[in-house]
Amino acid sequence: MLKKTIDEMHLYEKKVLKALDISGGEATPEEVSRSQDLDLKQVMSAAGALASKDIIKVQKEVYEVLSLSEDGIEYAHEGLPERRILKTLGEYKTIQMEDLSEKSGINPSHVKIAIGWLIRKGWGTMDKGKVIITPEGESSLEISGPDEILLKKILKEKKLSLEGLSHDLKVGFNLLRRRKGLLKIIKNIDYLFQITPKGKEILDIGIEIRKEATQVTHEQLKTGSWRELHYRGYDINAEHPEIFPGKMHPLQRNIQEIRRIFLNLGFTESRGTILESAFWNFDCLFQPQDHAAREMQDTFYVKSPETTDLPSDELVGKVGQAHLNGGNIGSDGWGYRWDVDVARQSVLRTHTTCVSARFLAENKPPLKMFSVGRVFRRETITYKHLPEFHQVEGIVAAEEINFRNLLGILKEFYHQLGFEVRFRPAYFPYTYLSTECEIYLPEKKSWIELGGAGMFRPEVLGPLDVETPVAAFGLGIERLAMIRLGIKDIRMLYQSNLGWLRKLPIIEP
Ligand code: FA5
Repeated sequence: MLKKTIDEMHLYEKKVLKALDISGGEATPEEVSRSQDLDLKQVMSAAGALASKDIIKVQKEVYEVLSLSEDGIEYAHEGLPERRILKTLGEYKTIQMEDLSEKSGINPSHVKIAIGWLIRKGWGTMDKGKVIITPEGESSLEISGPDEILLKKILKEKKLSLEGLSHDLKVGFNLLRRRKGLLKIIKNIDYLFQITPKGKEILDIGIEIRKEATQVTHEQLKTGSWRELHYRGYDINAEHPEIFPGKMHPLQRNIQEIRRIFLNLGFTESRGTILESAFWNFDCLFQPQDHAAREMQDTFYVKSPETTDLPSDELVGKVGQAHLNGGNIGSDGWGYRWDVDVARQSVLRTHTTCVSARFLAENKPPLKMFSVGRVFRRETITYKHLPEFHQVEGIVAAEEINFRNLLGILKEFYHQLGFEVRFRPAYFPYTYLSTECEIYLPEKKSWIELGGAGMFRPEVLGPLDVETPVAAFGLGIERLAMIRLGIKDIRMLYQSNLGWLRKLPIIEP
């Protein structure tokens, strides 16, 4: 175990350990740097690596250090301005304010501050434009205050730890601190490296300091000399920082997977429009104009544009006939007067089945078409309901197509996504036979409906002049994604929950 650790140690780590060995078990970074001819950065990073492996301990002492600014150095050399005034006052006793700068030699701009401090320290008073020395000033002429002593001490020692100051010097520090820009207070950290028992064991086994190959050159490969080089062991289980690379949103990933399945099954992809006429969304699909799904509370009707162009009069006429009396396909139709203006209304499509209707109007069987897109419904939001979601729609039209083929296609599709679905009878105005596929949700103890399907009715196919049977299906994508991703609520797909998104694998395992 330790052998592996030694094998994976970087050259600098070995050098730091060696330095500690030589110095009797502990050393500062500066000492290691000197003894091993490494720069401090290299020492610190190697020490960090050793500490993380419990080979050395890094003791850290944080303290504040005082040093002087340029002004501070000047004051330390020439004396504080109030001291210089006091000296002058010692000679003259009383000085006219305006003569102060000249007589004491201090900068005119410092005079005001200097007098402030002179009075504060009790060394002088002001009287009618004159500065007069006080008895305390007289007795302070030869005695330095704590601030002046501290100033000189920092000047002499360059840096002074704040922690170690005596009581008097602390008083001096508090005085100097009140003056702007004299002192610099810097945070200092002292490190001490100490070898641990594990480090000692490693030293007992022995470490060899030799040059490591970090790169293999073309020349070394050619001559074969790479075989003689020394390589450091590589720890593939080492801790690494977590990274969150950009990736496709899981819903988008499911959509792409679904597209791939249908493309692989030989389907042609088609795209419709989100803004659709009621004609293609409902009428053409033999959905009567008083059908509940067409109510305002279920469908989003669009204000602008309020109406959408209809296809040829011939097709519109045939659809109207199908609703009225079934047209010429042997059906009774719905038996009501069909209103073309209702068919003109603009809606946000409520399902992608309108794409299939349009495709059948423009293409002759045999054909296989699928389409993926967003649909809109005025729904109350729940764990399995959204007002805007995706569907994948498809049709297969050919002479020999029947309901069993449709079930086979759906089984295959869901199977490729990892689902075993069950079918149960259903009703759609535009299909007969009709079915719904469902999957069981153990945590909800209920079946969830994944999609609807069926054989298009003659009332749909007749007006479109389609003469072969057409198997059709429309499947929800969000519900699929929700189950595949193991989430219990469909809303999660739209919540941009970064924590969750980051944890998802980049690709499906
Ligand atoms: C339809 O939309 C039919 N057009 C499907 C169809 C096509 C039948 C062709 C026959 C032939 P339905 O309203 O059941 O059917 O919706 C299909 C699927 O969309 C549902 O099974 C469900 O998975 C999904 N779905 C429906 N409403 C929502 C919703 N509010 N939020 C999320 N998914 C929904």
